[in-house]
Amino acid sequence: MEDKKIIIANWKMKLGLAETVDLAKKMKEKFKGFSGSEIAVCPNFISLLEVGKILKDSGVGLGAQDVFWEQDGAYTGEISPRHLTEAGCKYVIVGHSERRRYLMVNYEMIHKEIKAVMQVEDLTPVVCIGENWEERKTDRRDYVLYDQLQQALSGIDIVGNQKIILAYEPIWAIGSGTAIEPSEAEYAHKIIKLTLNNMFGMKIVNNNFKIIYGGSITSENVKGFVDLENLDGMLVGGASLDAEEFYKVVKAVL
Ligand code: PGA
Repeated sequence: MEDKKIIIANWKMKLGLAETVDLAKKMKEKFKGFSGSEIAVCPNFISLLEVGKILKDSGVGLGAQDVFWEQDGAYTGEISPRHLTEAGCKYVIVGHSERRRYLMVNYEMIHKEIKAVMQVEDLTPVVCIGENWEERKTDRRDYVLYDQLQQALSGIDIVGNQKIILAYEPIWAIGSGTAIEPSEAEYAHKIIKLTLNNMFGMKIVNNNFKIIYGGSITSENVKGFVDLENLDGMLVGGASLDAEEFYKVVKAVL
């Protein structure tokens, strides 16, 4: 994997426009002169343009929380990869578990979304995978991860320097207040890397993929994760809603 780590903030549906703008301004201030790592925030759709303006030429990039699998057409309510890049997005979260849970998004859709995102220059998908508690309890995690990766990425063509970020998010840890043990994350990341190696070959995996962890990361527990061998960064929800707390998370990772 590349050395450069990435930390992505997922603001979910937790902030309105005014609150989002306010937080984006604070982030800009906090990360002034920042370099050495890639940082991005993912506000809701209606805030993308405003946040993009605020973060222009700052050390913080812009991402979206979801995307549709066509570039344009009669798809009421949806937003395409091309539209996201027009709004200044460099990243987009694909297949977050909350969408899988509440909106019945499945890996067939996720596969199509990744494909559509990869057609657009300079837009990187942040693909979410991870087992739920039941699967974890019954020792099916490895199989679930393997299966999700196959469904999401089989047949995807990766050309040149196109990037894919894989976010391992054990569903039972998201928003729970407790992250999983770093050793467990390391194990899951190893399974993911082995599966990807098998699918794409080591060279492509090392050059084009990053594997990040998400699920109740805070400035306190992040320290246990930073030295893990197969960890290229974090997807941070709750702890990214406070600029100071998010700054601490980022500082710990660098
Ligand atoms: P959390 O969310 O950090 O609040 O657990 C992470 C995520 O859902 O991406």
